[in-house]
Amino acid sequence: GPLNETSLPLYFGWFLFSSVQDKVGCTAMDFLKTLDTLEGFKNHIADFTEQPEKEVDLEQYFETKGILHCTTKFCDYGKADGASEYAKNPVVKKCYGSVFELSLTALFVTPRTVGARVCLTDEQLKLWPADTEKESEADVPGSAALPVGSRAHITLGCAKDVEPVQTGLDLLQILTLPTGEVVEEMELGSLRYYGEGRWMLDLREPICAAACFSSFYG
Ligand code: A2P
Repeated sequence: GPLNETSLPLYFGWFLFSSVQDKVGCTAMDFLKTLDTLEGFKNHIADFTEQPEKEVDLEQYFETKGILHCTTKFCDYGKADGASEYAKNPVVKKCYGSVFELSLTALFVTPRTVGARVCLTDEQLKLWPADTEKESEADVPGSAALPVGSRAHITLGCAKDVEPVQTGLDLLQILTLPTGEVVEEMELGSLRYYGEGRWMLDLREPICAAACFSSFYG
């Protein structure tokens, strides 16, 4: 009946505790603030603007998008493939409402999105749909060959008119490329350039982020 049809959420995922959202948000802002002042970044400024003589303020360039979270399964209220199977999975039911510690190992920036890479533990991978990376192959060739869980990320911001779904695709694309050259050793870690405005900062110290496994209805 209609009740069943509306009982699936927009998505399942890990939702960062609010104190942790502030910490991660501030770290991301500090990173963007520093990134757009680096000579190495300015040398590739044309990736971000059609007026390369102008400077880009990355903090203004990206808009934040609601509660910080790491999506596990996008259900689209049941319209997405495998949505009801995921919701019925005993591991999903058992873990619903539980607290996890996510490990954020890198920050990445492209002309479209800014995000944090999440490195999932074996326990966390049980909540990760095993076909995620294979299903991303159509959007990002090479994804299917990446380890399961490669797409796990937190969207930190999107450029104007860009949807958050793009962040995971941008991450997968970076991961399919040969490791970029180190452009700068920053306080937070090594900054690498992957061409076409794609930057990734491998964090010296991963950020440990407490998060609740739950769902979002909107
Ligand atoms: P992400 O997980 O990268 O942040 P929206 O507001 O556009 O409906 O998206 C809600 C959430 O679901 C966002 O977190 C978004 O991206 C994620 N999402 C949207 N569409 C998809 C999709 N097709 N596949 C996976 N995740 C999606």
